[in-house]
Amino acid sequence: MTLDDKILSIYGSHDASVTFVDKNGDLRVFELERFCNIRYAMYSSEFDSWSLGTNETIRRNFLSHIKEQIKNTPETVVYSSVLNQNDIQLISEYFPNSCLESFDGHHISHAYGAYYQSPFKDALIFTVDGGGSDFGMHTTTKVYTGVENEIIEIYKSDLDFGNAYSLIGVPMSEISPGKDSSDLGVFLSYAGKVMGICAYGEVIEKWIEPMHQFYYHRDLSRLGNDIGLNLSLNSLSGQNSYNLAATSQYVFENILMDFILNFFENNKKNIVLTGGCALNVIFNQRLKEVLNQKGFDLYVPPNPNDCGQSLGQYLVKTKKHIDPLVYSGFDILDRKDLSFHLEKGNYNTEEFTTEKIFNLISSGKIGGIIQGYSEVGPRALGNRSIICDPSFRDMKDVLNAKVKFREWFRPFAPVCREEDMHDYFDNAFPSEYMSYAPVVKDEYKDKLPSITHNDGTARLQTVNSKQHKLFYDLLSFMKNCEKIPVILNTSFNIKGRPILTTIEDALYVLDNTELDFVVIENLLVEK
Ligand SMILES: [Fe+2]
Repeated sequence: MTLDDKILSIYGSHDASVTFVDKNGDLRVFELERFCNIRYAMYSSEFDSWSLGTNETIRRNFLSHIKEQIKNTPETVVYSSVLNQNDIQLISEYFPNSCLESFDGHHISHAYGAYYQSPFKDALIFTVDGGGSDFGMHTTTKVYTGVENEIIEIYKSDLDFGNAYSLIGVPMSEISPGKDSSDLGVFLSYAGKVMGICAYGEVIEKWIEPMHQFYYHRDLSRLGNDIGLNLSLNSLSGQNSYNLAATSQYVFENILMDFILNFFENNKKNIVLTGGCALNVIFNQRLKEVLNQKGFDLYVPPNPNDCGQSLGQYLVKTKKHIDPLVYSGFDILDRKDLSFHLEKGNYNTEEFTTEKIFNLISSGKIGGIIQGYSEVGPRALGNRSIICDPSFRDMKDVLNAKVKFREWFRPFAPVCREEDMHDYFDNAFPSEYMSYAPVVKDEYKDKLPSITHNDGTARLQTVNSKQHKLFYDLLSFMKNCEKIPVILNTSFNIKGRPILTTIEDALYVLDNTELDFVVIENLLVEK
C-alpha cells in the first residue's frame, strides 16, 4: 500500500494526536496524552489553562519528536480548526515550507477514519458522539454512505447519545465521589465507568419512559423529578445508582438500535460504527448479532473516539483504504535509558521466555508488558498491558485495589486465541481491538472469575499468531499445559495517568504496586 508521505495531520482538542508517515514509510499516530502523561491531553494553546491543557514547552518537544521521526517535510499540514494563531505560528516554525490548511469536520473525520480502516467498500457509516462540529455546525450524530472510496452525508441528528450517556454518571457517587463534573477530564471518564457499573443494576420498568425522554432533553433535574430521585452531583449510591446506569444502558441501546436499523432497513449494507459511543461494547455486541442474523456485518475501528481524529483528517485528504492502525503509536520513549533505569533498582533480570511468563502467571503473579509501538486507541492490546491468570478468584479485587487503584466495579478483559473463542464465549466474534462483549459460557464463569463481569459478559480480545506473538505463544503454551487458554489483560498505567510508554513509568508501577514483574521487550524484570 502506498501512503501519502506529504501530509501531516494535527488534531488539537481533547485526545489530541498527530498522524504522519515515518522514516520507514509506516503510518503513525502519536497521541499527545502518552507524550505528556496527561490523560485526554489537549494540544491547542487555547486550552492551556484547562485541566487537560498543556503548554508551549510540551508542544515544542512534541513537534521536535515528530520532526525527528517524519519521512519527508510535509507539503501540507492539515490542522483542526480549534488551533489558534499562536499554534499555527509554532507549527510554521517547525515546518516552514509546508502549506497549512485548517479543517473543521469532526464527524467527517470520524467517518473517514473508520470507513477507510474498515474492510468494506460499500457501507452505511454512523458517527455517534457527544458533540462535535462540521463546518461550524454543531451536531452529535451523523449518517453517511461510503461507496467505492467516496463518502456522502445522508442525515444529521441532534440526538446527543454521548453526553446523555455520560451525564448519568454525575449523580453516582461510586463514579467519582467528590469530583466536580464540570472538569472535562472527570466528565470524559464517566462513560466507561457507567458502562462498568450498569452490570450491577436492574432495568426499572417505570424509569424507561422518563429515561427515554432524558436522551432527548438531557436535563438531569427533570429526569430526577420524573423518577422521584435527587440526581444532583454525587447524590446517589448503591442499588439506585446501579439501576439508573442499567436503565440508561437499556434505553441507550434501544434508541440507537432503532435509529441505526431504520436506515439499514431502507439501505441494506454492512455498517461502520464510530464516534465515542462506539466504545460501548455491550451495544456493539448486540448490533453485530442483529446484523449477522440479517446476513450483514459491523465494523468498529480500534480508535473510534477522538484519538482517531488526526487519522481521520489524514484520510479525508488521501481518500484511500488502509490497514487498521492498531500498534502504530509511540515507540518506548526512553528505550536508550534501559540500563540506567535498571541500575537504579534492585531487580532480577533475565531473558524472557514464554515458559517463564507462564510459570509466573500460573502461580498468581501479575506482570506488565512494554514492547514495540504503543496501541493507537484507548485499549491496551498487549504492547502496554498488565496480564495475569484470570482463574484466580481474588485477582480482580487485587488488581483494582493494589495495582490499578480504581473502582471495585471495573471489569477486566480476557484475551484468547481466535480459534478458541467459541470454546469459552457465546456469540463471540474475532475482536482484535476489544470492540465487543460476548457472554462467558456458563461452564467457565466460575473457572474464569476475574474476567467474567457481573452480567456474565467480557470485553474479549482475540488474537492470532500474526496479530500478537507474545499473547498467542503464551495462550498456546497454556493450552498445551491443559490450562484454560485465557489471560486477563488490562492497560499498563500509573494511577490516573494515560497508558504508559516509558520504561521509567513501567518500573515505577513495579516498585510502587503489587505488580510482580515487567517484560521490557525481550527482558524479564522481577522485583
Ligand atoms: Fe468525537
